[in-house]
Amino acid sequence: MSLKEIITVPDPLLRKISEPVERVDKELLTLLDDMLETMYDAPGIGLAAIQVAVPRRVLVMDIARKEEPKKPFCLINPKIVRVSQEMSIHDEGCLSIPEHYAEVERPASVTVSYIDRDGNEQERDFNELLSRVVQHEIDHLDGKQFIDYISKLKRDRIVRKLKKEARRANSVIL
Ligand code: NI
Repeated sequence: MSLKEIITVPDPLLRKISEPVERVDKELLTLLDDMLETMYDAPGIGLAAIQVAVPRRVLVMDIARKEEPKKPFCLINPKIVRVSQEMSIHDEGCLSIPEHYAEVERPASVTVSYIDRDGNEQERDFNELLSRVVQHEIDHLDGKQFIDYISKLKRDRIVRKLKKEARRANSVIL
């Protein structure tokens, strides 16, 4: 297993639409393990493959608290098949948009079909926090970020700040 680098906005890769996975093989299982390790290390509760620069439709999540046993989810080719009428508003952040948060309104619960790491097709309801995380991560697979749900003014301000930080990080001080 190895830690992967998490890419951040404004990296154009984050806008790319990820490709479906065709088979669950050893390489994919290694990617899933690396993604989990990277997510726990960050630390975060969800990570999409595109955030480690791999444009495949794969995501991992785990909302267990630090003192609780780990409860990882690995979803391959996830697809939202039903959404609740009820909506929910909550603050969101993202490992690819460090230190910025915004309120996002999403369906309160969703049903998602996906392939698990054993290669079996699954369909499962996600509620509360897991529902929010799975929707946020599936957005990443379609090149979407939580800042797309806020006003253009606020979004531009966040992107400007991140661009500035990226420039600073890449600059050479002489
Ligand atoms: Ni994110």
